[in-house]
Amino acid sequence: MWSAKVFLILACILHSHSVLSIWTCTEDTECSLPQGSVCEAGMCVCPAGNQLVLGGTACAAAAPYLTSTCRDDLQCSNLLTSFQCRREEDETEGQCDCQPGFHYFVGRCWKSADYGEVCERSEECLGALRDPYNMACDEGRCTCAEGYYERQRGECRKAGYAVGDGCILDEDCKFTNGACNPSTFTCVNSASPTTFTPTIKMKTNATSSSGSLSRSHGNACSASSPCPEPFLCSAFGACVCARGYYPNTAGTQCLAELGSPSTEAQCTGFMAVVQDGVCGCPANVYFDENMRDCVKATRRITDSCVTDPMCHTFGAASICGPPDEDNWYIRSCECVPEQAVWDSERNMCRLFAGIGESCQVNSDCLAGTQEITCELNELGQGVCTCPVDTVNIDGLCLTSGLSLGEACQMTQECTETEHTVCEEGRCSCSAGYEERDDMCLPTIGSPCLEDAECVVNNTVCLNAGGTSTCQCSAAFLEYGETCWPRLSHHTQSCNVSLQCTEYLGSGSNCTNATCQCFEDHHFRDDRCWPKTGLFEPCSRSSECYLGELTDRVQCRNSLCQCSFYFPYSEAHHTCAGPDGMVSIPGGSGSSVAVSSIFTIVAALLYVLLH
Ligand SMILES: *[C@@H]1O[C@H](CO)[C@@H](O)[C@H](O)[C@H]1NC(C)=O
Ligand SMILES: *[C@@H]1O[C@H](CO)[C@@H](O)[C@H](O)[C@H]1NC(C)=O
Ligand SMILES: *[C@@H]1O[C@H](CO)[C@@H](O)[C@H](O)[C@H]1NC(C)=O
Ligand SMILES: *[C@@H]1O[C@H](CO)[C@@H](O)[C@H](O)[C@H]1NC(C)=O
Ligand SMILES: *[C@@H]1O[C@H](CO)[C@@H](O)[C@H](O)[C@H]1NC(C)=O
Repeated sequence: MWSAKVFLILACILHSHSVLSIWTCTEDTECSLPQGSVCEAGMCVCPAGNQLVLGGTACAAAAPYLTSTCRDDLQCSNLLTSFQCRREEDETEGQCDCQPGFHYFVGRCWKSADYGEVCERSEECLGALRDPYNMACDEGRCTCAEGYYERQRGECRKAGYAVGDGCILDEDCKFTNGACNPSTFTCVNSASPTTFTPTIKMKTNATSSSGSLSRSHGNACSASSPCPEPFLCSAFGACVCARGYYPNTAGTQCLAELGSPSTEAQCTGFMAVVQDGVCGCPANVYFDENMRDCVKATRRITDSCVTDPMCHTFGAASICGPPDEDNWYIRSCECVPEQAVWDSERNMCRLFAGIGESCQVNSDCLAGTQEITCELNELGQGVCTCPVDTVNIDGLCLTSGLSLGEACQMTQECTETEHTVCEEGRCSCSAGYEERDDMCLPTIGSPCLEDAECVVNNTVCLNAGGTSTCQCSAAFLEYGETCWPRLSHHTQSCNVSLQCTEYLGSGSNCTNATCQCFEDHHFRDDRCWPKTGLFEPCSRSSECYLGELTDRVQCRNSLCQCSFYFPYSEAHHTCAGPDGMVSIPGGSGSSVAVSSIFTIVAALLYVLLH
């Protein structure tokens, strides 16, 4: 469709003297390309605040912020690097976001690195516990940032070191008798008789001095007519907020994203607070992916939840469970059973320890089908240990000598039966082998030593090019891992088209269990040939076709022609019978008089006169 338009444009260029004249317009209605364009100074251009998208065929509003509506990746370029227009399949519109494996923070997309992973800058460190400040890049790896403690493998939480510091759980208050006050979410001294009352900051309604009274966001602007503070004029000629900020719904002012310098009035996201002049989330409250709101944290594992991040108070291996049918379909937090177990003493989903890691009780050790136990080492410390008769390979306790059908973890354990692999937790025949009598025997194409091994019906062990493999025997054809009999007559029933093409040629297939010539082919001399009519080029008589009179045509001088005994009848464009009649076999009248008697008479006269 649009290639046609390009062609049209090229044609216009060839026919016009000035390229500019293609776009000349006098009013908006004349501008159909790019779609949505307007007429400005005689040219069809995108309106202010819009940009060209979809290969220059349409105009769309520029999408300067994370979560802005977009149609084309290009629109999201304000996120600087690794951005995309994230769409559901089949949707034309999506939202600006970072590409998978990247996350947004203060105006751009960063490559995401989890705890212990390689990093170059602290901005890259972000784990399942979404807090851009809880990890820092230290000596090229993401580790817990200063002021954060590692509660368990890879989980960094903000530590409260004094009365009044923010907290969610008692464990966050890292001083003697420290506890978390559940109504103020601040650390208190549980032994102190005088309870600490924090000064609760009242959120006053935004009566901002920076910000216009009427909508300015999106208004057209230029170098000569700039935007009112704090808006900036974008490259597409519209007023936008600076990177790290987004407009309020009224479009009158710019609000701070989480992580951007901010006043109280600009930091308006759900639960967002200003700390050290930056808009952020309270201690151990996680950041929403939109980087505007904070995620409400749960305090008890039984608390109701809506999303997984709400449960991350209990660690990365916690999720918001399925709706509880017996309790008004309310969802509550739970541990991921494959990764962790609920530890009520420490109030968290305790990750299983791997083989060789320290433990206190058997249940600390990695879950799985095998009984992994916590054994004391020489120093009296508990270590997760593989059961006897198994060896620790890459953190798995592996055995050996398993035969076909036995439960396994890795292929190297399946040693008892030849040609087996560990698949879906069982020793099974590897590709190219089929199970038969507790053995794995070669299928078509797999190596063999003798015919008896070849498990597929009608296969034999054939030596070709130095190696012996199972192949269909001579009277059979291979198709779909099966050997099918070669046909000896075209009326024999078939199962696959290969049987027909071997016998009748490529113009045939197996339809309704019988070999059929294709519509544009005909059956002659035991094969299907392309239908070749009178006076059409041919290479052999079998190709020549004349419906029910096909036996009257032959290939002469590379053209299909009537054979000697059946003269050509021009009037009927067919080959006449030897009696000069065009007989239609099976026809009711059986014969029709030929008007070309005249032709014969003329021929006779010709002979007589010369
Ligand atoms: C703040 O604004 C909300 C809604 O705009 C209003 O209901 C509320 O009364 C306001 N509060 C103050 C203290 O002005
Ligand atoms: C193989 O041949 C045997 C005996 O002719 C028959 O019973 C069996 O069903 C065949 N197997 C397959 C897969 O066709
Ligand atoms: C092959 O076709 C015949 C005749 O239609 C049928 O009886 C037979 O079951 C088919 N064989 C296979 C393996 O499908
Ligand atoms: C195949 O068989 C079906 C049902 O018997 C019939 O409707 C169909 O026309 C047949 N197709 C051909 C190509 O003969
Ligand atoms: C055989 O060929 C015809 C067309 O030539 C096609 O319509 C039909 O689906 C084919 N049948 C099979 C079984 O491939």
